[in-house]
Amino acid sequence: MSLWTEKSRIVITCAKGVTPFLKQELLSLGFPVLSEGRAEVETEGTMVDTLRLNLLIRTGQRVLFLVDSFRVETPDDLYRRILRIRWEDYISEEGYFSVTSSVHNPSIKDSRYPNVKCKDAVVDRIKEKRGRRPDTGPERDRVVIHLHWRGNLGQVYFDTSGEPLSKRGYRMIPLKAPMQETLAAAVVLSTGWTGSGNFINPMCGSGTLAIEAALMGLGRAPGLLRNNYGFMHLKGFDESSWKTLRRKVRAEAKDRLDGRMIATDISQQAVEAAKKNAMTAGVERFVEFGVCDFSETPVPDRGGVVVLNPEYGDRMGEIEELGRTYRGIGDFLKKKCQGYRGYVFTGNLDLAKKVGLRTKRKILFYNGPIECRLLEYDLYEGSRKRY
Ligand SMILES: C[S@@+](CC[C@H](N)C(=O)[O-])C[C@H]1O[C@@H](n2cnc3c(N)ncnc32)[C@H](O)[C@@H]1O
Repeated sequence: MSLWTEKSRIVITCAKGVTPFLKQELLSLGFPVLSEGRAEVETEGTMVDTLRLNLLIRTGQRVLFLVDSFRVETPDDLYRRILRIRWEDYISEEGYFSVTSSVHNPSIKDSRYPNVKCKDAVVDRIKEKRGRRPDTGPERDRVVIHLHWRGNLGQVYFDTSGEPLSKRGYRMIPLKAPMQETLAAAVVLSTGWTGSGNFINPMCGSGTLAIEAALMGLGRAPGLLRNNYGFMHLKGFDESSWKTLRRKVRAEAKDRLDGRMIATDISQQAVEAAKKNAMTAGVERFVEFGVCDFSETPVPDRGGVVVLNPEYGDRMGEIEELGRTYRGIGDFLKKKCQGYRGYVFTGNLDLAKKVGLRTKRKILFYNGPIECRLLEYDLYEGSRKRY
């Protein structure tokens, strides 16, 4: 196939629970949604389209461009099929690539084996056609080939993102229990905050929710913060059109927000980290940071969104202590945040009940393997103590 001009299937992976938000993003960018799985959405386009997707998508993890799909029964079939692909047209013999794989086939006990078969086929093909072989290894900072093998269907993709898109490049100091950037973006999207009204984030930790909200409110592309993607290392990559696209996208962003953004944490160290991360992301002048207990967070008039991501705890003593914190969050929301939409993101539903306010919506997310909920509260005058 001619990589840069022919359309193919594009699969964008995401965390479980994030697909509705990823679909919404794709549709608003004008891409069709062809199918969806638990942690992926399928669309179509050319390799050139993957540049836009990598630059603009906020909730996806990896943008996979389908190179070929075929029937496969054994690792030797796999080798033969992959050997037929015109790799010499896509990867330089002086380049470097890595292979990632997702294999579910009862006859394959160790997924490293098909992975090696795939790598060997690519290397052998390029060596035969060009007389030299590219280097290979585990680094994902250059060409990444992704092998997907389910039953007797094999699919080979270019992972055009290289490193996952959650690695935006601004979080230098993650601290403990940070939320992944792409998940934070999905949480902000589900609050419906688009930049007007205030955005209040007590317990901000390393600042991920506030930073993602600022980027979103300003309409800044999350991918502008990164300089390296998998697609850049493929033959035929046109650097000047990539630069033009970046310039155009940068020019479309706003440079002010209507409301105030406030992010606080009880830990001085967390607030320092959040400030540095916001600075790296280029949004520090839009967020007012402060060190204080969540209950002391300033909440300006005129309403907006208030989001808290408290710890969920795993030890008993900790859970009891956290029970008091969650009750306190309920009081804070009820007493100080009237006129706002309130959100608590947690992986512990028992603790969530201690908030003691009636939930309007419960949105299911996964933070890694942990099932979580984003609980929404309408905070009107006299919210009742009921759930
Ligand atoms: C799960 S972390 C938040 C992670 C954050 N979403 C991120 O992406 O980095 C919870 C944060 O709550 C803070 N915290 C705990 N108790 C607090 C309190 N009483 N008042 C304010 N912040 C508190 C902790 O310091 C921690 O940074």
